[in-house]
Amino acid sequence: MLEKLSSEDFQIEKLGDCTHASPLAHARFTDDDEGVATTCLRSRLISEDGAPLRPEFFEKAGPRRKLYFSPGSMTCAIVTCGGLCPGINDVIRGITLHLEKGYGVENLLGLRYGYQGLVEKYGHEPLHLTGDSVSEIHRRGGTVLKSSRGEQDPGKMVDYLVEHEVQALFVIGGDGTMRGAKTICAEIARRGLKISVIGVPKTIDNDIAVIQKTFGFETAVAEAVRAITGGHIEAHDAFNGVAVIQLMGRDAGFIAAAASIASGDVNFCLVPEVPFSLHGENGLLERLRERLHRRGHAVIVVAEGAGAELREEHGYEDIGLLVKDQIKEEFARRRIPVSVKYIDPSYIIRSVPATADDSVFCAQLAHYAVDAAMAGRTDMMVGYYNDHFVHLPLKMVTADTKRLDTHGRLWAGVLASTGQPEVLA
Ligand code: F6P
Repeated sequence: MLEKLSSEDFQIEKLGDCTHASPLAHARFTDDDEGVATTCLRSRLISEDGAPLRPEFFEKAGPRRKLYFSPGSMTCAIVTCGGLCPGINDVIRGITLHLEKGYGVENLLGLRYGYQGLVEKYGHEPLHLTGDSVSEIHRRGGTVLKSSRGEQDPGKMVDYLVEHEVQALFVIGGDGTMRGAKTICAEIARRGLKISVIGVPKTIDNDIAVIQKTFGFETAVAEAVRAITGGHIEAHDAFNGVAVIQLMGRDAGFIAAAASIASGDVNFCLVPEVPFSLHGENGLLERLRERLHRRGHAVIVVAEGAGAELREEHGYEDIGLLVKDQIKEEFARRRIPVSVKYIDPSYIIRSVPATADDSVFCAQLAHYAVDAAMAGRTDMMVGYYNDHFVHLPLKMVTADTKRLDTHGRLWAGVLASTGQPEVLA
């Protein structure tokens, strides 16, 4: 659902004037008036009257010469929310190191189990994070702070921040988490407090609006390719072998699409954005029969959110299992021998450590998040847009969602690589 915006919603909130000199010795400082042009922003942001809305510039991320906070006396906190994602520990490490070594902030709380960590009644004691305590954490997947899904009462969370004298909160999560961060900001503003809240975009699904990519996506695609490669070998070395590989992507098919292109072994890629039929002349099963007749094996990648109507009609939770069962049933009915292997690597993909490139990306996001908080920015998320790191208002990034453009380059790449028809129906 699209939320309506006004042009004020593109402004980055500031807690006040920046009067403290930055202790960063060798930084290339960013000036407040540096921006990144939004000329190629293709989003669905709309105004109250339904007209398309586009800010001219996004504020450029980076260290400022003058800070809002006096770092020496500051307390900061980090929270990690939602499903696991490669690179969370890299971001925690990056924030901790930049706060401590760059700005000299010594009090950093690692809040545990997502937003529950900000609610007293759960009794999750925070960790005290230091450069030493985080030095090795990036070698492991998951999050050393643990995570949880779901909302918490913003009033209780702000009570917690006040009680622990937290002046900057770093929130690592996906779109639901950013909506939660927005409710915290609204409560902070309602009480007239000066607490910075900065989001860092995490999700293997890469479905956060406006930005080019979230951290963890690249690693997830690389891991998904490994699963597809295994499936391909299984399918290839059997008579009429078919591998069905179900990947994550509840609402968006970015992992399935990118991994299908990267692998080059995929013959059918099914995503939530493109409905498909099982039966009929141009349905999946008939196309699969043709493929097996021609090549003797086939690889099908299916994002978990694909075929919503089919799942409902057949009463299946997993589209991959439905596809597998339907293949077996249909080919048995037609007396065509087939060997179907079903692979679901979802949680294996999500829990691995980040690839080298993703780790670098995580460290950069972490540093920019810290710089933004020190300069008194709030109610915003750091993000990568048009090859630059920028500040994006939470209101804007949560007003829309990102979905695979079925007329765009990525999907065209899938069609070219798989050879599947535009419409499987
Ligand atoms: O992070 C989002 C996501 O990857 C979705 O694609 C998927 O549906 C979800 O996580 C599953 O996570 P969980 O099993 O933890 O709810």
